[in-house]
Amino acid sequence: MRKLYSFLVLLALVLVIAACSSDTGDNGDTNSGSDNNEANTNESDSTADSSDGGEEGVVEIFSWWTGAGEEDGLLALIDLFTEQHPEITVENAAVAGGAGTNAKAVLTTRMQGNDPPSTFQVHGGEELNQSWVIADKMEPLNDLYEENDWMDKFPQDLIDLVSHEGDIYSVPVNIHRGNVMFYNMEIFEEHNLEIPTTIDEFFEVAETLEAAGIVPLALGDKESWTATQIFENVLAAELGVDGYAQLFSGEIDFEDDRVVAAAEKFGKILDYINEDHASRNWQDSAQLVAEGEAAMTNMGDWAKGYFSNDLDLETNVDFGYFPFPGTEGSFAVITDTFGLPKGVDNPEQVKTFLTFLGTPEAQDVFNPLKGSIPARVDADMDKYDDYGKDAMADFQKDDLFPSLAHGSAASEGFLTKANQAVNIFVTQRDVDNLISALQNAAPEM
Ligand code: GAL
Repeated sequence: MRKLYSFLVLLALVLVIAACSSDTGDNGDTNSGSDNNEANTNESDSTADSSDGGEEGVVEIFSWWTGAGEEDGLLALIDLFTEQHPEITVENAAVAGGAGTNAKAVLTTRMQGNDPPSTFQVHGGEELNQSWVIADKMEPLNDLYEENDWMDKFPQDLIDLVSHEGDIYSVPVNIHRGNVMFYNMEIFEEHNLEIPTTIDEFFEVAETLEAAGIVPLALGDKESWTATQIFENVLAAELGVDGYAQLFSGEIDFEDDRVVAAAEKFGKILDYINEDHASRNWQDSAQLVAEGEAAMTNMGDWAKGYFSNDLDLETNVDFGYFPFPGTEGSFAVITDTFGLPKGVDNPEQVKTFLTFLGTPEAQDVFNPLKGSIPARVDADMDKYDDYGKDAMADFQKDDLFPSLAHGSAASEGFLTKANQAVNIFVTQRDVDNLISALQNAAPEM
């Protein structure tokens, strides 16, 4: 009895210590394999911090880059910045959850409560413009672009994505690609499979894989954006880049035959996913491909960062990549950018950080780890492996289309409803319901 009592006291003590030392910024992140905390020496986690928009000497960086496949690049950036600017303390206010699932809600609360972070991760396009610029929450950064001679250092398409009515509102740190299919090369070789270039070819490959007892397509839609990402790629395949643009500008209805055909194909693709998709996140599903349990996964190329850095896999040996079937020659653009919210106490220091973000050194330390390519046009190609070099070449020559799942194609209001509709579709497969939910949400685009 006495022993049991001592054990319970000890257990309680251990639990208290564990709770005290747990990372408050890790908002329920279940990812494993994230042990890179080297850069944390000059940061404190401040998700629960209520600084009123950045005290002097402190720059709070708000993002959703925590955990495996996400944080290595951010921590390297913070290291380099604090080396160059020891007078500024960086607070890393990252909130876990892929594609900003939780971070965006925390950010909205803070912005509405006039408690903006010094700077925050935001996708170029509608997420930046409709959520924050039109709401008059951001400072223009035209002077920063002029002072640093940036107008010809970033592609015009990207500058357009971060501009509104002639003013520029954020600094892009990267370009991710969303229409990539990563695949297990050994499985493809063993089963003599060709890379599918159309959705119909994908179905043929998937049939062979299924007959061999291998999951054709890994999906982890515990957070529903991963399924929305597949759907947007099917839309791009069916409508082409121009039709896709017309759909999101309201010139084409969601009831259009091509959208209905896309929804039908999306449903058929879902016949080939792993059964436990709803309990996995994007890292867990990418892991199925890494371990040879599934053959392919459609994921933005942050999965490349995850494969290389966290799982130690070799590009074009352990995993390969190809454009989502039917989208060859087009590039789903996702750009992570940072701006200056109105009302921060130390805008000059935040601008020092933003200026740093726009340098080739910062971009080339971040992007090789992140799996993305630099937003700047004058990157040091030697720092990137074959995947990065291919992505840079494709970005130059491909037709670009903005991602829906990652905030560029439509407003947050529409995206939230699209994610909900897609989530229901994944289980019910009711094409009419999906189409009418999207059509009803369209006025919010
Ligand atoms: C995207 C973001 C990427 C990556 C991904 C997964 O929205 O642009 O940088 O973090 O989510 O969380």
